[in-house]
Amino acid sequence: MNPYTFILDSRIIDLADNYPWIIPIIDTFQMDTDSSITVAEIAENKNINIELLVEIITNAIVRGIPEYTIPTLNNGNSINDTINYIITHHHLYLRTELPRLIKSTEKVIEKDSNSCNYLAELLLFLQGFDIALVKHLNKEEIEVFPFITHTDYEVINDGLRQAILLMEFEHNHVSNALNHLSLITDNFTIENGTNARMKELIASLKMMARTFDEHLNLEEQLIHDLIFSAEN
Ligand SMILES: [Fe+2]
Ligand SMILES: [Fe+2]
Repeated sequence: MNPYTFILDSRIIDLADNYPWIIPIIDTFQMDTDSSITVAEIAENKNINIELLVEIITNAIVRGIPEYTIPTLNNGNSINDTINYIITHHHLYLRTELPRLIKSTEKVIEKDSNSCNYLAELLLFLQGFDIALVKHLNKEEIEVFPFITHTDYEVINDGLRQAILLMEFEHNHVSNALNHLSLITDNFTIENGTNARMKELIASLKMMARTFDEHLNLEEQLIHDLIFSAEN
């Protein structure tokens, strides 16, 4: 069977089960992941261009688990470049991913609240984390980063010291929160028999936590470079 026909004749429920990482795409088209109807039937019912739908689903399957890999910054990047990079890559991802994870968790609860025993706690955690995160990102973008980029590094002045302390203080909280998330999810374990939507959620949570870790490292490195350039 050629790949085009294979997708066309596949039932949504089977696609979601075999390739859970495409669930966000399925959601985008407001299709039901437990639906026993085929992609061809969905396209017809929802009046979606069939070739386009098959192409999007095929691409998502082939792409595999969406690894959010952050290309390493070359040595010698200016502090401005690094900050720019942090805002346009990490912050943008985190700002959009947290609300999506909340929606995903709500959806799992709505569909099958028994599929896992920590869903209520997870939802509460994500809601709180999102609020705290947006505050932290705003603070960095509005107060800390502009201060860093406009400061003369010859001398670490009090303002800059305050900005650095604030970042470090909040990063400790984030690290603790991520450890808590790992505890809640038993280190992002996917049990045998976990349903597709829950699998996708756990994989995405793991990716978010990993990205966050890399993000914190980069910002800590930024702080380190800043102090180093001020001292030399
Ligand atoms: Fe940040
Ligand atoms: Fe930060």
